[in-house]
Amino acid sequence: MRVLGIETSCDETAVAIVEAPAGDSPMGRILANVIYSQLTEHRRFGGVVPEIAARAHLERIDGLLVDALAEAKLELGELDGIAATGGPGLIGGVMVGVMTAKALAFAHDKPFLAVNHLEGHALSVRLTEQVTFPYLLLLVSGGHCQLLTVHGPGDFRQLGTTIDDAAGECFDKTAKLLGLGFPGGPAVERAAMDGDPQRFALPRPMWRKPGCDFSFSGLKTAVRQTVEKLEPPDKSAIADLCASFQRTVGDVLADRCANALTSAPSATLVVAGGVAANLYLRGRLEEVAARYGARLVAPPIKLCTDNGAMIAWAGIERLRLGRTDALDFKPRPRWPLDPGPSDHGVVRV
Ligand code: KG4
Ligand code: ZN
Repeated sequence: MRVLGIETSCDETAVAIVEAPAGDSPMGRILANVIYSQLTEHRRFGGVVPEIAARAHLERIDGLLVDALAEAKLELGELDGIAATGGPGLIGGVMVGVMTAKALAFAHDKPFLAVNHLEGHALSVRLTEQVTFPYLLLLVSGGHCQLLTVHGPGDFRQLGTTIDDAAGECFDKTAKLLGLGFPGGPAVERAAMDGDPQRFALPRPMWRKPGCDFSFSGLKTAVRQTVEKLEPPDKSAIADLCASFQRTVGDVLADRCANALTSAPSATLVVAGGVAANLYLRGRLEEVAARYGARLVAPPIKLCTDNGAMIAWAGIERLRLGRTDALDFKPRPRWPLDPGPSDHGVVRV
């Protein structure tokens, strides 16, 4: 089974082709994985500008499709399905990916799969690792921070979520305040390597409170106030603040995962999403998993941040279950993995 995956929900235009081997192995093989990061388009604005992102996706998507097919040495007719991120995300970009996938599916008479971007992250670990359902998932990206149990494709129970900002957003803000550029996560991680993680005592929102919810807005404010006092921060202060910030995020994530492992014991803790690329945080999560007799599993660094392979893989998981989508699927700017029993059809932010 070979599926093409298109990802256009934020600032990466990405196309991949993934093959699922015969048999019931949960793992797949990446035949092509091409990506265009719109860093130069957005850098001078210090963040992603939705309209610019949508236009850039439109300009790049055809070329990337050609590149992916060439890399995989395949024709469109040889594919078994066309998947695209159907949401959540910046709606202009999602529309570009969805329309492209629908057009290809229609023209070549292939099944169309509208993939939830969060499900792409949530299942991506199974593309490269032997991980079976159910598992506990920490999903940490630029827009989300959630703990969930994953029972299968489309079958998620949310244990907790952020009540304000996402962890990745907090990394990006910290980098911006310190003039480290965009995207912030990798820059903060690099700077933190030479820093003293004990120098600054920052607040740890939700730490040691019951439950699995997160909060990062107080930490963001504390970083801003610390930077203001340091004006202008020198190189060693920047390194120390990044290291202290990263340790604080590590404390919070580990504490929340400990509660999740207590209330929903699992043999496997999976971490996914852009922030999962952070090696220090992976180390902290490994420690907490081991404390509860679980193993930490994460996708390869390259597959943590947005990519087409995770969308193609989620497409394969859904196609295996016969869950395809109609060509009148409407892109969804909001699309929770677990709408929860109390929502009555109202989509939460
Ligand atoms: O999953 P992703 O690529 O996009 C979303 O779906 O949001 O995640 C992007 C986020 C950004 O906030 C970025 O700063 C963060 O992931 N990130 C990192 C690292 N690499 C990316 N955060 C911490 N450490 C990293 N190495
Ligand atoms: Zn993402």
